[in-house]
Amino acid sequence: PETISIGDLANRMAERAVDVIKFLMKQGQLLKATDVIDADMAQLIAEEMGHTVRRVAESDVEEGLFDTRESEGELVTRPPVVTIMGHVDHGKTSLLDAIRKTSVVSGEAGGITQHIGAYQVEQNGQKITFIDTPGHAAFTAMRSRGAKSTDIVILVVAADDGVMPQTIEAINHARAAGVPVIVAINKIDKPSADPTRVRTELLQHEVFVESMGGETLDVEVSAKTGQNLDRLLETILLQAEVLDLKADPNRTADGVVIEAKLDKGRGPVATVLVQRGTLRPGDIVVAGSEWGRVRALLNDRGIAMTDAAPSMPVEVLGFQGAPAAGDRFAVVENEARAREIADYRARQKREKAVARQTTARGSLAEMMN
Ligand code: GTP
Ligand code: MG
Repeated sequence: PETISIGDLANRMAERAVDVIKFLMKQGQLLKATDVIDADMAQLIAEEMGHTVRRVAESDVEEGLFDTRESEGELVTRPPVVTIMGHVDHGKTSLLDAIRKTSVVSGEAGGITQHIGAYQVEQNGQKITFIDTPGHAAFTAMRSRGAKSTDIVILVVAADDGVMPQTIEAINHARAAGVPVIVAINKIDKPSADPTRVRTELLQHEVFVESMGGETLDVEVSAKTGQNLDRLLETILLQAEVLDLKADPNRTADGVVIEAKLDKGRGPVATVLVQRGTLRPGDIVVAGSEWGRVRALLNDRGIAMTDAAPSMPVEVLGFQGAPAAGDRFAVVENEARAREIADYRARQKREKAVARQTTARGSLAEMMN
């Protein structure tokens, strides 16, 4: 059954919680702001306090959001979204740096990636979106999310180190997400490089590369010398062509939050990947239990954009609070709607937390008996 706390009910009526409590007291009921009542009781209180009640069912609130039934207009080819995965230090960020001609690695603490980065590059006039993930064992959730919102996984394996625990983990994430893998055998410039060993080890994990009679594309590369990076990009575009990736740019935008943080100067900043439609400044967005009006869209080089088309990663400024990584986002028609959805989800989240606490207390009580 639907429930609501006295505090939340007060909020929704734009009344102070103390006034609601006083009102209930006059009726002979002693309740605290944190006490939870059911929807019928809440309606009764609201009406008695002179408010009009509109009960919103879950289906009403979520309806239309992320609705895949919404008719798509003309589908246009979109850039592939490519997630770079692999064991720690195998050269994922270096590879991306070499492709983008930047140096993100040099700015990382201890040379270890601790967050997800999203970039777009152009090869022969065709765009490719890259998502960099950390290889450190601690960041499984980020890798799992990375694999879920991508079209292709680049599995980076250092030729001098071979298949390692997070290489295997990455293979499993890609498999679970049903995403094709391209193997990049990196550090081929090293004297100790042994690409054949890498291929044989991959075989043991049922990744069959082309040269061993399989179907998985593989490229020997060096982030250090730049060897074969063109071939890697061409292989990605080839794979993308096979996947025939399309999206409708002329609809309200939606997509996924790649990461979000609270920036001291700029407030909540969310890096999102637009998956359908076109996102623009001024749009009202909801992501999880947060919402906001897009104040600015910044590309991966910090340049303000007037729009973000499908497959484009952008930083969104203007959220009221930082959404959670992995949350889906969608543009809605107005602020009232955004608030309604965000409030509803926040309430659901709190209620789930309370339910969990109650269960935990319950089982503790059972243990004491
Ligand atoms: P995490 O994000 O922490 O998992 O690491 P990563 O996979 O992003 O590796 P990163 O790019 O930080 O590179 C790790 C080390 O390998 C750095 O010292 C790089 O300079 C070095 N390295 C990366 N690619 C190559 C390469 O192709 N050749 C050689 N010789 N060294 C490389
Ligand atoms: Mg890295």
